[in-house]
Amino acid sequence: MHFHGYELSLVISNEEIQKRVAEIAKNLSEKFKDEVPILIGILNGSFIFMSDLIRALKIDCEMDFIKLSSYTGDQSIGTIRLLKDISADITGRHVVIVEDIIDSGLTIKFIKDRMKEAGPESLTIITLLLKPDVANLDFPIDIVGFEIAPEFVVGYGLDYDQKMRHLSAIYRIEKE
Ligand code: IMP
Ligand code: MG
Repeated sequence: MHFHGYELSLVISNEEIQKRVAEIAKNLSEKFKDEVPILIGILNGSFIFMSDLIRALKIDCEMDFIKLSSYTGDQSIGTIRLLKDISADITGRHVVIVEDIIDSGLTIKFIKDRMKEAGPESLTIITLLLKPDVANLDFPIDIVGFEIAPEFVVGYGLDYDQKMRHLSAIYRIEKE
């Protein structure tokens, strides 16, 4: 597909994403039956995944957002900066972290450690995408939507320099 000077190849269609989102929502609805978990979305990338996920839940939930930065263009700069913290008190709560993609694993490790400090009742980590060949993780990810090859992808919330987040499927950038 051509998109504003870029050549994009489909990696995961919106139909496949929706099917997986429904499965994840079912899993969460069963896991937190009779509870009200708080979902923490990692901005900006997870906002579309988060909005589809919460609307597929059968249970009640609360939500909040955290914003970090470590990327410019398609390169990680290696250090994480906290740009916006959560406002909710998560002590004693069932916390569900909702991430768009785990690449190096640096961002999710930073967030996990930060959330743990607040003493939640439980901590569940969900990522829509995981690059297992490059992710360096010393803890398990509870729910992974899809494992993908270590290539840069855009769409469904994921950006290239803040653009292409609004594409409804997930694509690999072939060339400019
Ligand atoms: P990590 O800290 O290297 O695991 O990277 C995690 C963050 O980098 C994600 O929350 C994304 O915002 C961004 N990121 C990593 N890989 C990609 C990609 O392929 N496309 C778009 N954003 C990505
Ligand atoms: Mg990003």
